[in-house]
Amino acid sequence: MKKTRSAAKKRKAKDRRPSRTMLAALAALAREARERARAPYSGFKVGAALKTRTGEIVTGCNIENASYGLTLCAERVAVFKAVSEGLDDFDAIAVVARSKRLTPPCGPCRQILWEYCGDIAVHMADLKGRSRTMRLSELLPLPFDSTNL
Ligand code: THU
Repeated sequence: MKKTRSAAKKRKAKDRRPSRTMLAALAALAREARERARAPYSGFKVGAALKTRTGEIVTGCNIENASYGLTLCAERVAVFKAVSEGLDDFDAIAVVARSKRLTPPCGPCRQILWEYCGDIAVHMADLKGRSRTMRLSELLPLPFDSTNL
């Protein structure tokens, strides 16, 4: 009896994970957002799309500045837009760029994602349709967060 319940629970947790179809749709929105990137200095355009568990989607793109250090990554733009609109309970982010290797969120973005989104699915895709999905906890093992304070 106990065994059955825990298997059902596990199944439920898995069901709550975004489906492949959902992640592909999210990547398509990130790809569109990438077109709005302002990346005249690096030439490296990135798009992101962040999804809440209830289905709201907020996009972001990287926005660079002549004072390079002020550049904002696509992921952080998406997170800050979403949080400032009062959204929370995120379950996935898609990140799209054109590159030889898939583009994972940079270190600072991983930290911000962990703080505001927790252990979400990070779906990385390129323009050729290659993709890979990882949990944020795989990309940011042993995170520093409020539980450390
Ligand atoms: N960038 C992102 O927007 N997201 C990433 O995951 C990696 C890097 C941006 C920052 C900068 O505008 C450009 O890509 C080159 O680093």
